[in-house]
Amino acid sequence: MANILVVGTQWGDEGKGKVVDCLTEKANVVARYQGGNNAGHTVVIGDTEFILHLIPSGILHDDKVCIIGNGVIIDPSALIEEIEELQRRGIRVEENLRVSKSAHLIMPYHILMDRAKEARKGEKKIGTTGRGIGPTYADKAARSGIRVVDLFWPEYFKERLAANLADINETLVHLHNTEVLDFNEVYDKCMVYRDKLERYVDDTDILINEYIKEGKTILYEGAQGTLLDVDHGTYPYVTSSNATSGGALTGLGIGPRCIDEVFGVVKAYTTRVGGGPFPVELFDNTGNLLREKGGEYGATTGRPRRCGWLDMVVLRHAVRVNGLTGLIITKLDVLDGFSKLKVCVGYKYRDSLLTEFPKELPIIQECVPHYEEYDGWAEPTNSVTHYNDLPDNAKAYINMIEEKLSVPVVMLSTGKRRTDILYLRDF
Ligand code: GDP
Ligand code: IMO
Ligand code: MG
Repeated sequence: MANILVVGTQWGDEGKGKVVDCLTEKANVVARYQGGNNAGHTVVIGDTEFILHLIPSGILHDDKVCIIGNGVIIDPSALIEEIEELQRRGIRVEENLRVSKSAHLIMPYHILMDRAKEARKGEKKIGTTGRGIGPTYADKAARSGIRVVDLFWPEYFKERLAANLADINETLVHLHNTEVLDFNEVYDKCMVYRDKLERYVDDTDILINEYIKEGKTILYEGAQGTLLDVDHGTYPYVTSSNATSGGALTGLGIGPRCIDEVFGVVKAYTTRVGGGPFPVELFDNTGNLLREKGGEYGATTGRPRRCGWLDMVVLRHAVRVNGLTGLIITKLDVLDGFSKLKVCVGYKYRDSLLTEFPKELPIIQECVPHYEEYDGWAEPTNSVTHYNDLPDNAKAYINMIEEKLSVPVVMLSTGKRRTDILYLRDF
């Protein structure tokens, strides 16, 4: 198999975890490159469900190396919890997981800051996952972050922690009127985390490049989605990392030629969780039906996801900014039984019809979707694994997506289970 990068094309939760789990079979290494435990990637094997937050979805296979790259931010207590939970469920983690020395740590004060800032924003809040993502990436850019490797240099670690806490505690008290953090308590906890994580820590940039040189197959696992990318998303209603394909290069320390294919995961309709503009959002029964049929509740926070029809304006943007070479359509089965399917092909804005995703937030907020309508299908597609067994109108829906985006559909997911998958091309 080629070295494939899997990226979300919408606002996250497209089914990346499931797809990565399926592709892992033919890979040697699976690597995450950005985000943190704001992600929730679901894999269903038989009747057993796993939700991965930080650890690559490849971990559920016995013999694959899983890398958490330098671009990922790590809440050490969340990582330890995830490792231990997987181990309790019989998954081999210790043998397979490698964690970058250069990854930045989500510290307890980042979580407090995230929540305090959101509370102050009131109605304008981003609707973050409350995991400390924004403040951690902000500290990284401001050069006040603390990295995994710093845990192993206690005097240096102490110095940085003390400097950060002095600033942060002041902000927490005076600006946000919240609790402050005790230096010794934070330090002691971090030393416990260090001892538990030591066996996983590695120079993952060296490691992954060695694997590539040896001809091993790498699967790159994106988190979040294109419209949540800090550069290419609906800023400021985004996450704080580069969720698009470009993030993989800096987030792992690889060159562009280490990626052969970039596959965009496309949910057959659109969802978004949290605040921010969402032009195709449906507030009616159809929206509710998509949410219930699709089980659209956040894998990390349990929040109901906002739902709407497929949005081609979003997808055209995703094709371009990620350089997509293939599309993977998921949750096709959720559309079973709808007599008509709508697809947004442009945005009406005042007197014009926009066909490219606008950069201006006030414009996006005013856009009204312009739909085309297609006939649905009554027959179930759930668990279908052969293209010829799909209803004609489902095939037409897939062809329509492929034609409108000029990118081939390479895989199709027809249910949540690992086995509900259809391969349409060789790669
Ligand atoms: P991710 O963040 O992109 O990995 O996606 P999530 O795991 O947050 O959300 C996707 C949800 O859809 C999960 O509950 C999956 O089990 C489920 N899912 C994935 N693919 C399919 C599919 O083809 N059909 C159905 N019905 N559910 C799916
Ligand atoms: P996966 O990998 C869906 C959203 C949050 C919020 C915004 C910023 O499972 O697709 P953050 O906590 O990152 O500062 O929140 O981004 N968000 C996600 N939405 N799927 C995700 O990840 C998300 N990760 C963050 O809801 O709107
Ligand atoms: Mg998710």
